[in-house]
Amino acid sequence: MKLSTFGSRFTAHSGILQLMEDLGSALSRDEPVCMLGGGNPARIPEVERRFRESLAQLLGDGDAFDRTIGDYTGPQGHPQFIEALAGLLQRECGWDIGPENIAVTNGSQSSFFLLFNMFAGHFDDGSRRQILLPLAPEYIGYADVGLTESLFTAVRPRIDKLDEHTFKYGVDFGDVTVGATTGAICVSRPTNPTGNVLTDEEVRRLMTLASAHDVPLIIDSAYGIPFPHIVFADATPFWNGHTIVTMSLSKLGLPGIRTGIIIANEEIIRAIAGMNAILNLATGSFGPALVTDMIRSGEVLQISRKLIRPYYRSRAEQAVEWLRAELTGYPFYVHKPEGAIFLWLWFPELPISSQDLYHRLKQRGVLVIAGEHFFPGLEGQWRHQHECIRVTYSQDEESVRAGIRAIAEEVKTAYDSSPSRARAG
Ligand SMILES: Cc1ncc(COP(=O)(O)O)c(C=O)c1O
Repeated sequence: MKLSTFGSRFTAHSGILQLMEDLGSALSRDEPVCMLGGGNPARIPEVERRFRESLAQLLGDGDAFDRTIGDYTGPQGHPQFIEALAGLLQRECGWDIGPENIAVTNGSQSSFFLLFNMFAGHFDDGSRRQILLPLAPEYIGYADVGLTESLFTAVRPRIDKLDEHTFKYGVDFGDVTVGATTGAICVSRPTNPTGNVLTDEEVRRLMTLASAHDVPLIIDSAYGIPFPHIVFADATPFWNGHTIVTMSLSKLGLPGIRTGIIIANEEIIRAIAGMNAILNLATGSFGPALVTDMIRSGEVLQISRKLIRPYYRSRAEQAVEWLRAELTGYPFYVHKPEGAIFLWLWFPELPISSQDLYHRLKQRGVLVIAGEHFFPGLEGQWRHQHECIRVTYSQDEESVRAGIRAIAEEVKTAYDSSPSRARAG
């Protein structure tokens, strides 16, 4: 098969492909597998029940259902959903926005394909621009969406040790350079993979930098405020005309209906609608129709704050407790879990790479993701990238418990095999 440059780029091996294939093959194995690798949201029975009720309501209104599945929406997305969301964001976040500031996409992943390639890559004047990730590690799903090479440039974080086993990354502003080759700045908040929540002060400084250089700051709020609100730290939701906030229905528990949301100034929203028309004609209406009433009434906020956030918070605390118990006496750090659905574990001076650890765990039926995949755009060698893994704690408790036990066993074996540790012991 002779492939174009596009064809070759988008069929090459990628971290996200490995992740999705691991998930797929895990499902077809006979032995039990602890799936601590993917980003699937948890199944929270009370939340699932609410979505089933909402579907029954939609089905009960024959006309609304027929229009939902029988009509194309406009390329900006489902109008009632957009209007309800604009109202919610005005009320809840105090943002000065209207329906002209919101576009729907077929999942945030496709939002990022559009946004990154819109602001970075080759320009008509012969120049090239990149997306600046001011705090690596960042979301693995960004890494391969570029239509051109080297779409990203990233900055190493500051590492603040909070106690013997907890740390937090911070933006190292001394190393963040915004210049003529910067097309946009992007952060996920909360961050996948680390569970970090950038402080308000960090976001304000990034907003100032972005507007001073007339480039957008993209804030990926897939786990953020006001929904699904998987945020355990204090955090203000920010938006202004220089900021693009992306949201998603996935982590509410609806990844199957592929609904992403972009909130931006009117010019950007018109551009997104234009690209939606070319790529998709229209965006899916099913997700928006399912949640429009919940958004209009504000129920989505109650679901997020009363059911979703506490669920993940207690799962995170439990997972950290298990980890501390299993790894007593060994050197390990957990990134302070401030949000999202992952633990980011750092094993300083681990004698094997995190990719080797990934393979050893995979052999035992435990799937995690090696840290090195989460540093798109970071140049130079940094051992830290190979000392970390991402562990999802959203799956059933038994799997997470067994997975953490296996991780601890493999890590202990690796440390015990190290001559320096043997000497120290
Ligand atoms: C930080 C972040 N952004 C975006 C996405 C993409 O979400 P979706 O395409 O399901 O809306 C994910 C998915 O896990 C994510 O973790």
